[in-house]
Amino acid sequence: MASDTKGKLMNIVGAGENGNEIVGSPQKTESCNIRFLGSRGKLIIHENVSLLTVNINVHDDAYIEIGSGSRYRGTLNVLTGCSVKIGKRLHCNSFLNISCAEETQVSIGDDCLISTAIIRPSDMHAIHDRTTGERINFGADVAIGNNVWLAQEAMILKGVTIGDGCAIAARAVVTKDIPAHSIAAGNPARVVRENIVWGGDFPLRRPGLGG
Ligand SMILES: CC(C)(COP(=O)(O)OP(=O)(O)OC[C@H]1O[C@@H](n2cnc3c(N)ncnc32)[C@H](O)[C@@H]1OP(=O)(O)O)[C@@H](O)C(=O)NCCC(=O)NCCS
Repeated sequence: MASDTKGKLMNIVGAGENGNEIVGSPQKTESCNIRFLGSRGKLIIHENVSLLTVNINVHDDAYIEIGSGSRYRGTLNVLTGCSVKIGKRLHCNSFLNISCAEETQVSIGDDCLISTAIIRPSDMHAIHDRTTGERINFGADVAIGNNVWLAQEAMILKGVTIGDGCAIAARAVVTKDIPAHSIAAGNPARVVRENIVWGGDFPLRRPGLGG
């Protein structure tokens, strides 16, 4: 069990054993559990990272990197040979659940904002064509660009690339690539607006509605 400089206790299991390693330490933690469940796992934590109600499971040869200034809440379940690379200043204002298997990779760019959301580059169970016996649902990497907003209960499935500057709507289930600066909504998610920019000023009412 370890303690950080600012925050509450952090439970770490298996670091420093079997080639497992943590590089860096969080600036702030709350209810943080990090478990190395195999060998040669690596977790890199850059400066000024907050880990707030976090469960991280690192399996054999798994690699996780959390960029500077990021604030992570939720679960990172990174199975054998998988990697998760999170850019700078990720802001999770609720729980983000990333589960990877099948040696897939998840990347998240800089300056992303994520509500309760799920990222799944693997289905975790195989599906086969009954006639040919071939597998039809291989895992595939997920890449999320810079300055992407995943709204409440968005789900990002295998093989998806989301371009820079996108907003993914509440409860969207994203199964195909989304071009940069779009809003995608629905299940399956479709582009409903193009050429958008989100963030910045936040006036409380639509102009002309009075107040
Ligand atoms: C994505 C979002 C920001 C878009 O808002 P907007 O720019 O005002 O877009 P609109 O309401 O004009 O919707 C555009 C179209 O997408 C559809 N749409 C919007 N959100 C949708 C959703 N969550 N699911 C399905 N369709 C949706 C609208 O029905 C509309 O369709 P139409 O053009 O056929 O009429 C908003 O819909 C949303 O999902 N907000 C998320 C709120 C949230 O989770 N906040 C958490 C804080 S991190």
